[in-house]
Amino acid sequence: MKRIILLVLVILQLEETFEWGFKNGILHNSIWLEQAAGVYHRESRLGKYQLTYREAKAVCEYEGGQLATYEQLEEARKIGFHVCAAGWLHRGRVGYPIVKPTFNCGFGKKGIIDYGYRLNKSEKWDTYCYNPTGKECGGVLTETERIIKSPGYPNEYENEQICYWHIRLKLGQRIYIQFLEIDIEDDTDCLSDYFEVYDSYDDVYGLVGRYCGDELPDDIISTGNVMTLKFLTDASITGGGFKIKYSAIEPISNETSTLETPTDFVS
Ligand SMILES: *[C@@H]1O[C@H](CO)[C@@H](O)[C@H](O)[C@H]1NC(C)=O
Ligand SMILES: *[C@@H]1O[C@H](CO)[C@@H](O)[C@H](O)[C@H]1NC(C)=O
Repeated sequence: MKRIILLVLVILQLEETFEWGFKNGILHNSIWLEQAAGVYHRESRLGKYQLTYREAKAVCEYEGGQLATYEQLEEARKIGFHVCAAGWLHRGRVGYPIVKPTFNCGFGKKGIIDYGYRLNKSEKWDTYCYNPTGKECGGVLTETERIIKSPGYPNEYENEQICYWHIRLKLGQRIYIQFLEIDIEDDTDCLSDYFEVYDSYDDVYGLVGRYCGDELPDDIISTGNVMTLKFLTDASITGGGFKIKYSAIEPISNETSTLETPTDFVS
């Protein structure tokens, strides 16, 4: 039975290279990434579509980056960066990255929805910035082992951070999480600043725990090959931050090793 299901997945992989679901034995998530491959989206404080080209460029430069190129946006899109809002790109091009096409976003197409180089640079859009050395906040992690730190660690983290880390290992592997250090603004129910772990590919289902304070939580082992970590801070009081380590647990039972049979498709 399992073999039959796997064959179907393999066919889907061949047809839909950048679709949600399984690819190269890795389950891809279904939520919008905040940033990927150094690229992130910004809108004006005034709301959506309020930035001229000059202003868009200034926003990225203020944060130490620059306007993303079309190619950089495409690289980010390939690993799951999906935003339903057109933004300025390098040299006045405008577009947005669609991973999962829908009717009300991207005209049912996927790829970079390209509005071309705008002649009128006073038009107002959002912006896409590129800053690979910017705040180390979130991303898609596929290595079998890695240390994840709060942005700026070992210095204190900043206010108003939202970071998502998606750990996606190969099908059959599980994720082992160890807290090495934690110091997050402490309050009842961790409402101000918190770190959350989800045994899932989004932050909707599978909440394992919400953490704050400075007491090290117990180790966590995922049920599948994906996990989502979320770090959110409010507008006041910070803390020393956190350092956690994750590592892959290889499948041991015969049942899970069967799942690894189509090795041709595992990168
Ligand atoms: C350029 O775009 C702005 C903002 O949409 C608009 O107000 C202005 O009329 C446009 N200029 C030209 C020459 O079309
Ligand atoms: C599980 O694997 C072991 C060693 O590879 C083998 O000896 C055993 O017969 C297998 N069990 C089943 C139920 O396939």
